[in-house]
Amino acid sequence: MVTRDQIEQAKRRRDLTFFQSALDARNSVRTLLQVLEQLGRLPSDFDPTLPLLEHPHAEVRLAAVKGLSRLENRSLLPVFAERAQKESNTHVRRELVSAIGRLRLPEAIPLIGELLSDPDPKVVLQAVRALLCFRDHPQAQNLLLPLAEHPNELVRSAVQRAFSQTGERREREPHPASLDWLKNLTVCADVLQMLAHVPSESVHLTFTSPPYYNARDYTLYRSYEEYLDFLVRVFREVHRITKDGRFFVLNTSPVLVPRMSRQHASRRYAIPFDIHPRLIEIGFEFVDDIIWVKPPGSAKNRNGGFFQHRKPLAYKANSVVEYVMVYRKATDKLIDWNIRQYDPQTIEASRVVGDYEPTNVWEIAPASDPVHPAVFPLELATRVIQLYSYKGDLVFDPFAGRGTVGQAALLTERYFLLCEKEPAYFEYARERISSGNLLSDFTPRFMYYEEFIYLIQKHNK
Ligand SMILES: C[S@@+](CC[C@H](N)C(=O)[O-])C[C@H]1O[C@@H](n2cnc3c(N)ncnc32)[C@H](O)[C@@H]1O
Repeated sequence: MVTRDQIEQAKRRRDLTFFQSALDARNSVRTLLQVLEQLGRLPSDFDPTLPLLEHPHAEVRLAAVKGLSRLENRSLLPVFAERAQKESNTHVRRELVSAIGRLRLPEAIPLIGELLSDPDPKVVLQAVRALLCFRDHPQAQNLLLPLAEHPNELVRSAVQRAFSQTGERREREPHPASLDWLKNLTVCADVLQMLAHVPSESVHLTFTSPPYYNARDYTLYRSYEEYLDFLVRVFREVHRITKDGRFFVLNTSPVLVPRMSRQHASRRYAIPFDIHPRLIEIGFEFVDDIIWVKPPGSAKNRNGGFFQHRKPLAYKANSVVEYVMVYRKATDKLIDWNIRQYDPQTIEASRVVGDYEPTNVWEIAPASDPVHPAVFPLELATRVIQLYSYKGDLVFDPFAGRGTVGQAALLTERYFLLCEKEPAYFEYARERISSGNLLSDFTPRFMYYEEFIYLIQKHNK
């Protein structure tokens, strides 16, 4: 077996004979892969892996391309381009495109362009990434812009995002910061009116449970479509005020609108499933579907009749779950980018310590409240906030009810921004959270819409 030490010494000696023997195509695939994996960075004009680009085993070809790509040797461009045209394995082709991209050569643009018609979207996506290095070059733009209509959604969004960001806004403040005048503020207003005054990219996380269509008594909509349209308008605004790459977590469940009489059927509306495609269209990326499971006894019994007659088709399940749908504002930045925006102390202080639920099934008892008919438990809000934000972040709830999100934000040393339309619930939230948290440097403030407008005017001066 060839050791890393032997490889390093041979590299230093520029011992081509050593590599010719270690990388002889007649060696076993295992040996070749072992040597290729230990190869590390070779001097840029030293390419003993070249013959392996033609090896019959795809894994060997893949490792050989990776090795050659690390050389960043510009004279390899025609070799990569020719191999990419001939290569039958998708992974190797993708790696070849990446190798071409790494050379950062404008003369590679037409060669990369030829790979945009590859049948595998992963290869096309890699070619798009390579071309984006030249996004200001007219030839690259001519190739990229038509891809905004590409049949594959990942290719489409990579191109659309890249060009919508050209010369675009910079965040006004550092990513972890938020506007002081929005911290620990609760506004009593219609959420669309309130949101119209909240600056773009102001909040780090939104967690909310919207009205349940007409299933509870507080808000009435003329139709289900009107209800969904209203939520879309609110969530479009939530998208706008969310910072780059940050999360939107939505708690909903299907609802049952009871039947008018024995002659009519009751109707169940699949709110989470109907709202999901709309959120994707708005520009959120789907991250996770968490199922909040409540104890069996907490569900309304829907199968009393079935229990007696046991006739198929008439079965109705007692619903003990709600959905906690997790989305991220679509971005080309990785989560790591978001994390890197925080200083080491904040990262350390925000660590989720101790037990946590590793699956997407969260068992949490429901909450009931003497004043509000549809609250979520403090434990649910606390868990979401701890998992999807950092200490000092601003957390928003557009449908705040009794202010559970505000309470959880204070407990977890985040700031909150809340909106609630009903004065009775707003006042109740004031009672519950106005004492704040001794650790918080911003005393909770509660404002009716008019006062909020006054605050905005003051800050816009
Ligand atoms: C499901 S409840 C949220 C309860 C909250 N999660 C809690 O734990 O207290 C939805 C809330 O949205 C409020 N709401 C409905 N339409 C609204 C609107 N257009 N603007 C602001 N709030 C609204 C309702 O009054 C209700 O309190």
